[in-house]
This record gives sequence, C-alpha cells and structure tokens, in this order.
Amino acid sequence: MKKAIRHILLAAISIIAATATISATELHIIPEPSYIDLEAEGYYEVTAKTRLVVNDEAWNPAERFSEYMMEYFNTDKPMRMGKRGKGIKIRIDSCVPYEGYELTSSEEGVLIIGGSEAGIFYGLQTLRQIIVTRNGKVPYGFIADEPSLAYRGVHLDVARHFFGVEDVKRYIDIIAAHKVNRLHWHLTDDQGWRIEIKRYPELTEKGSMRKETLIGHGLRPEWWDGKPYGGYYTQEQIRDVVDYAAKRYITIIPEIEMPGHAQAALHALPWLGCEEQEVDVWTMWGVTPEVMCAGKESTYEFLENVLMEVLELFPSELIHIGGDECPKDRWKECEHCQAKIKAEGLGGEEQLQGYLVARIEKFLNQHGRKMIGWDEILDGGVTPTATVMSWRGIEGGIYAAQRGNEVVMTPMKLCYFNFYQTESREGEGLHIGGHIPFELVYSWDPFEGLNPEERKFIIGAQCNMWSEYIKDMETLEHMLLPRLAAMSEVQWATERRDENSIRQRMESMRKFYDACGWRYAPYYFEGRK
Ligand code: ACM
Ligand code: ZN
Repeated sequence: MKKAIRHILLAAISIIAATATISATELHIIPEPSYIDLEAEGYYEVTAKTRLVVNDEAWNPAERFSEYMMEYFNTDKPMRMGKRGKGIKIRIDSCVPYEGYELTSSEEGVLIIGGSEAGIFYGLQTLRQIIVTRNGKVPYGFIADEPSLAYRGVHLDVARHFFGVEDVKRYIDIIAAHKVNRLHWHLTDDQGWRIEIKRYPELTEKGSMRKETLIGHGLRPEWWDGKPYGGYYTQEQIRDVVDYAAKRYITIIPEIEMPGHAQAALHALPWLGCEEQEVDVWTMWGVTPEVMCAGKESTYEFLENVLMEVLELFPSELIHIGGDECPKDRWKECEHCQAKIKAEGLGGEEQLQGYLVARIEKFLNQHGRKMIGWDEILDGGVTPTATVMSWRGIEGGIYAAQRGNEVVMTPMKLCYFNFYQTESREGEGLHIGGHIPFELVYSWDPFEGLNPEERKFIIGAQCNMWSEYIKDMETLEHMLLPRLAAMSEVQWATERRDENSIRQRMESMRKFYDACGWRYAPYYFEGRK
C-alpha cells in the first residue's frame, strides 16, 4: 500500500516536473534514471571532507563510494563515516523497489534511500557520475530510479586470452559503474582451462597451456606466433574475485563448457573423449570435433565432480554449462555413445546431448542451483526449468519464452562486443569480424517478437566479449566502452531510451570515463559508425 501511494506521488510530481526550468537530461546520467526533478537553482557541494552518514546495513556501499571519492579527489584519506551528522546520508527502506533508490539533494546534504544495499550502491553510482561530471556540485532536486531488467549481464571469455585477477577486477569496476549485476565468466574452452579443480590437477597443469596462438585470420603457418601461452586462476583467486564482485553487487555466473568446446580438458584427461584420443590444447579458433564422450559414465562422474568444486566457489543460483557448438561426428562413431542412445531409448545424437544436459540440470537442481545454457540446449529437447541464453539470434529465446523457460537475450548480431565498431574498421586493429556500432546496440529491443505474456520470461539482456583477438586490457576496454553505456540503457532503462538525449549524455560520460582512466573507443564521439 505504502509503495502504491509512493508511485502515485511520483507520477504526480513528474507532471509538475515537466514544466521545471532545468530539463531532466541536463543531469546526464547513464543509464537514464526513471525520474528526475531538479530545482531551478542551488546545489550541494561534495568535497573530500564530506561526511558519510551511514548505518551498519549500508556500510559496504558507503565504503565503495569512499574509494571512488578518494580516487576522484586524489587523496589517500577515506571519507569520514559515522552514524550521525550532516553530509551524504544513506539508508535502506523496503518501500523503495529492491534495486531502486531515491536521491534527494538539498541544503541539508544528499540523502540516498535504497530498497536494498544494491539499490544504495546504484544511487551512489548516480551520485558519483554527478560529482565527477559537475565538479562535485549536486543540483538540488530529486531522482527516483529502478532497473527495467532483473538480469543485466556482461560476459568475459578468459579461455581464448587470459585476463589476470587485477584485470578482471578492473573489468568489474567498469561494469559496476554501468549498474550491471551479472558477470558471465567463460572459464573453459578448447584453447584453455582456466579454473583450478583440486580433484583433477591435470586440467590446469596441462589444459591451461597451448603451444601457440593464431594471430591472423587465416590458417597460414606464419599466422601462428610460436609462443606458448597460458594462465589460470587458483581457487583462492577465484574466491577473491567472487568476493570483489559481490561487494559491487555483481553475481558471477561461472561457465564450464560441456560437452563441446572442451578440447583443453580432453588434452589434460584423454579418457574424456570417445576414443581416448590424444589431442592438443587447440590452437585454432572455431568449432572442433573433439568433444567429451556422452556415452561413458566416467564423463558424467567427471562433470559432477568438477561442478561440486564450482558450486563451492560460486554462490550464484545460475550455473552456465555452455552446451553450444558441439559437433556429433565422434559420437556417431563411438560405441559408448551409441550404446547410451540405445539404452536410454534416445532418437539420436541430438537427443544424447539433451540427455546429458538434462542430467546435469538435475544434478544442479539437487544442489539448489539452476542451469543456464546457450540456446543449443533447446535442440536436444530442453527441460521446462532451464534458463536459455539466446545467442544465435532471437528465435531460440522466443521459442523458449513461449514454452515458459526463462531467457537471457544476447543475439550475436547486436550483442557481440568482440565485433568491429565501425564499417571502415579503420584504426580498430584486427578483430574477429562483424559490425556493431554504438547506435545499433542502443536501438536494440530485447523484447522484439514477443507478446506481453511471453515478455515476462525475458529476465535479462547481456553483451558478450569473446577474446580470440582481444589480448590485453587496453583492447578489452576499447571493445567494451562506450558500447557498454548503450547496453546499460537497454538493460536498465529499456523503455526510456532516446537517441538524441544519449548523444548529449555521452559527452558527460566521456568526461567520466576520462576521470576514471578507462580507455574507451573514440568512434562514437567522432561520429564514425
Ligand atoms: C557462442 O558464441 N558460441 C555462444
Ligand atoms: Zn562417445
């Protein structure tokens, strides 16, 4: 009831605000808040000496904010924090939507009320953008905000190229500033196994190193660099990163690829393959026929043992099992796979993959988790409870939503941030292909093709960062920014996007990126697409 009254009040104020002297967009926040009402003049100035007034319940977001301000004011002194006094007051109130916040600026200071710690964190991110882009001056007024989508994801492939703990933390800092709340961490693939599994040390001892890396687009010998390449995270490092993300209200969803994209695992443990074939950690990009055997019970035992350790490390309810691009050539020839098809009364190799996926889902459910997989998990007959990540297009997502499965939309043509940003590609360096300029991301409707009933199953949207041609942090930032700003508005402000307004607001965002030292691509600002 209290919540309903609050919403009616906000709606009433917004009619009055339409006539206010300062237009809402002048604040230049990205993603755009749902409601802004500024007073004609006056501001509260935040300085390095401003006090944070905060209870224990909001201590973590306040600490994060203090770190941001230390960086901005270039000081090594944390902000003063206490339970009483004037300054930036922070509290939680369940009347505010869970991830939402209300921010009031007045002579008294700044008051942020969040629906949760996360809501406060987002309110503080908004305040941070105002402070950084307006020299600490927070105009008197009121902002109310909440996200459109519950799942706001960014992906990172650390298999094709490895990014160490400090790089991943920096990536987390960048996505957190865009109010993203999921990091999909692609930890295993044909070209490298990157997560320590105590039960199978060979996975990282052997599977984390490849002989060399393909640096060109073709397959000429001179396009391999001849240098051994590898890296992995210890379980202690994984825990550290998971904790770092959680303190920024980001849940890390680990992805352990199965049954395809597993050649690095097969190199380490040849018995995972149909014929125990000896294979290298792969030095090509694309899709390899070397996949795990879905007929042998030892494969299922392996997968469950690996997942047990993964579940210990990652509190995420959703666990990603890959499931994409698994050629069935080996299975067709394999006596174990064929025997399994027969014993289980399956219709063929596609159904064998469906069988594997369903068995793994059951295992995850038994351990209190939910399974998410790429949209190929639909091909072998998906269970009603799996979450589907639609990447080959939107069709898989639509089909899944129609059947009542939850869906994360991430169609390749709009969401693959490893694609080029300009048509001419001039100055971009070598990338995998494609063309996704900022404007295309911004124009994307994640609900396209869905009726209102089906829309309810679209829990989120995500951009993906595959790292075949992304070798270092500078390139990673260049591919992520500023397109992430467009994506964050698709995720957070789905229904209130405006092409003219974002162009103006991006000028302030650029200032913000500069202040943070983030190495964005210049193309959007140069008018190149
Ligand atoms: C994918 O791009 N193979 C999910
Ligand atoms: Zn087999």
